[in-house]
Amino acid sequence: MTTDEKLAQAEMKAHGKPLQKMFNQVPEKYDLLNRIMTLGMDEPWRKKAVRYIKSENPERVMDLGTGTGDMAVRMAAEIPECEVTGYDFSAPMLEGAKEKAKKQNVDNVKFIEGDAAEMPFETGYFDAVGISFAFRNMTFKNKNTSYYLKEILRVLKPGGKLVAVESSQPKSKFVRFFFHLYLKYIIAAIGSRIGTNKGAYHYLAYSAKEFYTTEELTRLLQDHGFGEVKHHQMFLGAAAITIAQKPS
Ligand SMILES: C[S@@+](CC[C@H](N)C(=O)[O-])C[C@H]1O[C@@H](n2cnc3c(N)ncnc32)[C@H](O)[C@@H]1O
Repeated sequence: MTTDEKLAQAEMKAHGKPLQKMFNQVPEKYDLLNRIMTLGMDEPWRKKAVRYIKSENPERVMDLGTGTGDMAVRMAAEIPECEVTGYDFSAPMLEGAKEKAKKQNVDNVKFIEGDAAEMPFETGYFDAVGISFAFRNMTFKNKNTSYYLKEILRVLKPGGKLVAVESSQPKSKFVRFFFHLYLKYIIAAIGSRIGTNKGAYHYLAYSAKEFYTTEELTRLLQDHGFGEVKHHQMFLGAAAITIAQKPS
């Protein structure tokens, strides 16, 4: 195992609590690093996902793993008649989210702290659940994956949709090779220079490199009870918006 992988795995330790600790340590420079690492494309990708959610005319939506609230605030601003809930288990991240909502003057969004494995919402409460760049944390070598997916399914109304923006695996082997080089050498290096937690950014790079293909993701979601699953790959397949529907 390379040093990078050891660092990543030490940080990951596979599940909930170590990840929570990690996200409690990164919020300060999280937004900046996100922009740099996605070459500024994270916002347009979230925007696309929000446009899709909006087209469903939702009354209640959640941004799961909201972090500093980029997707939640965008949903609240673009769908003013909608009740938006940002949910995350990192209190420091949520502080950033609340500030962002205040600055942008949106009042139809609230932020709630808690774990995705056990959410304080009624069954069938949400028309859609959006999740940006947190789905990988919840499903990559995470022993709680099944709890998370079952819980997402439970809080969605029948026919409701999970809309996940996440890194993906390019279908072309050639592109995938360069994408993995970028993750392994550039992302981990940028993260450890600018960020405060070296292991965290090695984990982010390593988990993206090893993450599911779209076919594997479809299987995972359908094995947990989702019906139709569609993927829209972006930027040569480096990222994708995955839309998974709860059966009616
Ligand atoms: C990479 S950040 C993404 C933040 C934000 N959605 C964005 O687009 O920038 C992942 C977020 O998911 C949250 N998270 C990870 N696992 C979680 C869990 N089991 N329950 C609640 N939040 C979780 C972390 O605290 C973190 O804020």
